[in-house]
Amino acid sequence: MEAAPAESERAAVAERLLTSSLRTSYDPVVEIDWDAPHTPGAYWLPPHRSSLYGTSLWARLSEEQRVELTKHEVASAASAGLWFETILMQMLIREYYDADPTSRQAQYALTEVADECRHSIMFGRLIEAMGCPVYRAKPVDQLLGRFLKATASGPRMYAAILIAEEILDAFQREIMADESLQPLIRMVSRIHVVEEARHVRFAREELAHQVAATGPLGMAYARLLVGRAAHTIANRLVHPDAYAAVGIPPAVGRAAAHANPHWRATLRWSAERVHAHLAGAGLVAGPGRLLWARAGLI
Ligand SMILES: [Fe+2]
Ligand SMILES: [Fe+2]
Repeated sequence: MEAAPAESERAAVAERLLTSSLRTSYDPVVEIDWDAPHTPGAYWLPPHRSSLYGTSLWARLSEEQRVELTKHEVASAASAGLWFETILMQMLIREYYDADPTSRQAQYALTEVADECRHSIMFGRLIEAMGCPVYRAKPVDQLLGRFLKATASGPRMYAAILIAEEILDAFQREIMADESLQPLIRMVSRIHVVEEARHVRFAREELAHQVAATGPLGMAYARLLVGRAAHTIANRLVHPDAYAAVGIPPAVGRAAAHANPHWRATLRWSAERVHAHLAGAGLVAGPGRLLWARAGLI
């Protein structure tokens, strides 16, 4: 387990992140040409990252349908992303309520909320520009999110933030580097990756501080909640209704994705970095770890 960062170190990290935010922050409403035509035939995700890639369902889809499926998978991930950002903004604001407003950490937390406000607008614009529906969380996840945003604090709060941010980040880093993909999703990914790198740095620092301040009982509860968050986030990536866009019944598509070794490898790949970090912090073990495994993340 890591030692807690000293107060001066936490402040220094926050100060650096504030300076970096001044230098590289984007307003997607002005930076992105939302009306630009899409590139005919270009995928929205590298095809091998589609949840159905390599299945018999995939083999039966036309090239056009495969492109369409990746578009709806991106819309689903963007819907999940902005849902989670809404939860995250409320968690940060709740913590800020008790924070010292003159501290750099508190000021960076507000800067992160400002970033997330722009991101959620960007994801909303993206879904609109793709002509896809908003893929909403199912009622039980909606309820869990409501609970998390109202109650989470301490290690479970920053751990949940890291899981959502780092899993999406793995996909987006690959997308922004792949020149064969739609320019729109590459640009959205680039903006998100740049700003999220700071959020991940901040969350890791704050998490180390909170882990050191948490007793065994609090850690046990955190491990369970962190597992539950990991499970929900993994399950929420591809909404089953996305399959209906290419004529596949949602339950059939979902079952095929669940059994798909390519998709399971993709899930593990996306969670590699955050799993290693949280396991190192003592936050992946016991019954919570089973939830990571059941979600296919490890
Ligand atoms: Fe974001
Ligand atoms: Fe973020």
